[in-house]
Amino acid sequence: MANSAFGIDLGTNNIKIYSRADDSIMIEKNMIAIENKKTLFAYGNSAFEMYEKAPGNIHISYPLCNGVIADIKNMETLVRFFIGGLTKGNIKGGDYYVAVPTDITEVEKRAFYDLIKDANVKAKKIMVVEKAIADGLGMDIDVKNAQGVLLVNVGYDTTEISILSLGGIVLSQLINVGGKKFDEAIRSAVRKEFSLIIGGKTAENVKISLRDLEQEGKGAVVYGRDIVTGLPVEREIPTALVDETLQEHFSTIIDNIKVILERTPPELAADIYRHGLYLTGGASQVSHLGELISKGTGLSVNMAEQPIASVAIGLSRIIKDDNYKSVAYSIEGMGK
Ligand SMILES: Nc1ncnc2c1ncn2[C@@H]1O[C@H](COP(=O)(O)OP(=O)(O)OP(=O)(O)O)[C@@H](O)[C@H]1O
Ligand SMILES: [Mg+2]
Repeated sequence: MANSAFGIDLGTNNIKIYSRADDSIMIEKNMIAIENKKTLFAYGNSAFEMYEKAPGNIHISYPLCNGVIADIKNMETLVRFFIGGLTKGNIKGGDYYVAVPTDITEVEKRAFYDLIKDANVKAKKIMVVEKAIADGLGMDIDVKNAQGVLLVNVGYDTTEISILSLGGIVLSQLINVGGKKFDEAIRSAVRKEFSLIIGGKTAENVKISLRDLEQEGKGAVVYGRDIVTGLPVEREIPTALVDETLQEHFSTIIDNIKVILERTPPELAADIYRHGLYLTGGASQVSHLGELISKGTGLSVNMAEQPIASVAIGLSRIIKDDNYKSVAYSIEGMGK
């Protein structure tokens, strides 16, 4: 029987793990709930369920911040529990392919390797794959032969903008804009315009339902606390206010794409103009972003079919097909 193998995309919001044994991708919130500073209380989606509702002695947090590991101990715990869940508590040695952002330091990259090594999951082999390469494979791009691919992943804490060519990364930039900033912008606009405090999950729901609401010509009905009276109230937020609020962050993404395009060697630019830009990541689905990027850059935009899972789908292709193994590399012993 083939070795067990896992492909891990540690996102700041969602952790995605491909498992070869059942050929499927698990998607769970990358969150941990700790009780009284020491006991694991909940993890993944169930920790997220409690978020913003839990009492003071239960601390709920994301162990990743801006695409890098901020809380190593809790991240190790999460990886161990998720892998334990996928193997029904019977963790045997396996191969691990972990996706990392490109535009981070070597030390931060190495932390992803050390994480798997130290998570007690009996890793036999740990390979690293640049996220954008996995993303490209996940979107069915022939990354090994294509000469000039512009890929943009809009996630939770981060947006990664990359130029790929012949299986490698030519340029890459990680910026701190994504779904989290979109949610925060919605919260502060509602607070300013309606004197209403809403929770992060409510803001996220407004963002996710924006497209449907616009199509139906309806506003977003939200519940929150009135700043003046302190009482819970219901209000209808016009979608135009939400659109306007998100503009600033959309512009940041578009401006950064343009900067990357300006720095792209002209021979690669030709391919990019021919094929258009590839857009993925959960938050890339927010209403109007794709069309505004297209307008702002003059490029056609190819949207991912499975934007949250595209990196993990790419990792699954690397695990299943030896032709793609060469895009993964080992960083064992590096930087020590
Ligand atoms: N239909 C949707 N419309 C808009 N945003 C969405 C939609 N579905 C999910 N999102 C947003 O996508 C984000 C999560 O996407 P994703 O899983 O790609 O991020 P991540 O990989 O965890 O983050 P990062 O790559 O920054 O580390 C969240 O902000 C979520 O609100
Ligand atoms: Mg991501």
